[in-house]
Amino acid sequence: MANVKLAVIYYSSTGTNYELARWAEAGAKEVGAEVKVLKVPELAPQAAIDSNPAWKAHAEATADVPEATSADIEWADAIIFSVPTRFGNVPSQMKQFLDMQGGLWGSGKTVNKVVSAMSSAGNPHGGQEATILSLYTSMMHWGAIIAAPGYTDQVLYGAGGNPYGTSVTQGQDGKMVEDVEGAVKHQAKRTVEIAGRVVGQ
Ligand SMILES: Cc1cc2nc3c(=O)[nH]c(=O)nc-3n(C[C@H](O)[C@H](O)[C@H](O)COP(=O)(O)O)c2cc1C
Repeated sequence: MANVKLAVIYYSSTGTNYELARWAEAGAKEVGAEVKVLKVPELAPQAAIDSNPAWKAHAEATADVPEATSADIEWADAIIFSVPTRFGNVPSQMKQFLDMQGGLWGSGKTVNKVVSAMSSAGNPHGGQEATILSLYTSMMHWGAIIAAPGYTDQVLYGAGGNPYGTSVTQGQDGKMVEDVEGAVKHQAKRTVEIAGRVVGQ
């Protein structure tokens, strides 16, 4: 799907959702999309970041990743969000970013964006689905078109079978428990393919 513009917008403290975002980028590029990987602005105080070595290391390693803006939303035909679960919900950093799009929403520029979402949590059933659904609620208010993976490919079963969006468990060692790379790439390709239909390619 050449010429589909995809923004992969993520928040990550310790790198899981950053890795998911990069896999989404790779999958989308395989089908010819133009992709931007963008983080949302951090809201936590520096002291909190410094108190967690994994968080501090990830923040430093991704300092050069551009921050998402309203202009990026306007630019994109499709958006894939990736966020960690926070008490069964979207992290405040992503919520703040969404809440800053009131002007864009008010001018009709969020309508018909093709969107999809991914999440991680510390437990296999720690709220990933609730987080994704919560994000999708906001997307309905945007007039966006949700491109959930459903059960559209066998690869999704091996990745936990979450039809709302790819989800993964972050183990105690900080690494992902399930192998979800294929599911992420499938979700990204599907999002791009649907966006291609919406923009008329
Ligand atoms: C404030 C806070 C709330 C969290 N809430 C949950 C939760 O409800 N369920 C769960 O399984 N894990 C929870 N976690 C663990 C995170 O979801 C996990 O560390 C995250 O998915 C890792 O993603 P990241 O590496 O991209 O930051 C929480 C972590 C923090 C710091």
